[in-house]
Amino acid sequence: MKNKIAPSLLSANFANLELEIKRCEEAGADLIHFDVMDGHFVPNITIGPLLVDPISRLTKLDIDCHLMITEPDRYIENFALAGAKMLSVHVEAVPHLHRTLAYIKSFNVKAGIALNPITPLCFAFEAAEYCDFILLMSVNPGFAAQSFIDSFHKRARALRKFLDENNLSHVEIEVDGGVKIDNVKEMADSGANIFVSGSGLFSGDLVQNIRAMREALS
Ligand code: DX5
Ligand code: ZN
Repeated sequence: MKNKIAPSLLSANFANLELEIKRCEEAGADLIHFDVMDGHFVPNITIGPLLVDPISRLTKLDIDCHLMITEPDRYIENFALAGAKMLSVHVEAVPHLHRTLAYIKSFNVKAGIALNPITPLCFAFEAAEYCDFILLMSVNPGFAAQSFIDSFHKRARALRKFLDENNLSHVEIEVDGGVKIDNVKEMADSGANIFVSGSGLFSGDLVQNIRAMREALS
């Protein structure tokens, strides 16, 4: 499965997002990760569909929207129309996951679920056949630049094993939180193939960092 590097705009310079996105393209990033926070599900407020729209017009990279919000169904259509190509919702925030995943797919957008670091993995096992990808958080969602929580590895290994044993190998595993150039390979070895990184890429030279992350994965 292709390894995909997904810079998280949460750590970008918001005063010059166009330049940051061009740098992501230049360095060969695969996705743009867009963190949506509502001040309810997580203790922080960020950005929404109004900003996905102009960003999706200025890049060919797929926009991966991570919805850390309650009642995501109310906004899924807006994100899809704004140009999101991947949408993940948190299982802790959604009572009718089956319906929500089908709703996301109805817009021809890849559907994913996100799990907080100690949310039982059985949610992922039950939902996997309806998902294009599963996002395993390796920090408590809400902020960039937090410390990586090590339980990710055993969770990713168990999930990848489950997927491979159940004809679901095509379901991608995304890791988000504390992903750096020097630990990304271990995450790939545990079964992840989409690597979200904020502070690990935007601190210092973004282009060099993305290339170094690609090298670390090769
Ligand atoms: C955290 C967000 C992440 C965040 C990761 O709630 O979902 O995408 O930007 O930041 P780093 O890579 O700095 O941990
Ligand atoms: Zn995220």
